Amino acid sequence: MSYKILVLNGPNLNLLGTREPEIYGSDTLDDILNDLREYARERDVEITSFQSNSEGALIDAIHAARDSADGIIFNPGAFTHYSIALRDAIAGVTVPVVEAHLSNVHAREEFRHKSVLSAVCLGVIGGFGRNSYFLALDGLIRHLG
Ligand code: DQA
Repeated sequence: MSYKILVLNGPNLNLLGTREPEIYGSDTLDDILNDLREYARERDVEITSFQSNSEGALIDAIHAARDSADGIIFNPGAFTHYSIALRDAIAGVTVPVVEAHLSNVHAREEFRHKSVLSAVCLGVIGGFGRNSYFLALDGLIRHLG
């Protein structure tokens, strides 16, 4: 069975590679997505991806995934910590969403310790750098069975 997974990235993740590399690593988002696409292909999974700095565009992408994806890997960036609109979008669709973070948000500033999205996600992964995306994909594939 082949699955379609949407990899969704929120604000400032387009800057990966040069953005605070000591926290987020030196790979660009394209570096990570290209490797993830290859890893997925070996598992008969098709990856589509979308990045936006806008909350509304991310909400639209989650809505559109109802008809086009079996699961979503979502790094919501800073929206993690305060976007009730994204929480409602995730809660409003039946597509399983895995919240993924490069950094371990619990080891950082206190305002990053809270996620308003985790409770409506299938699961959460963070702290493994670029590997967080691969672990999220493994988790989704095993969940989808
Ligand atoms: C992040 C963690 C967030 O707190 C931060 O705002 C980001 C990236 C991560 O991948 O570690 O933009 O989601």
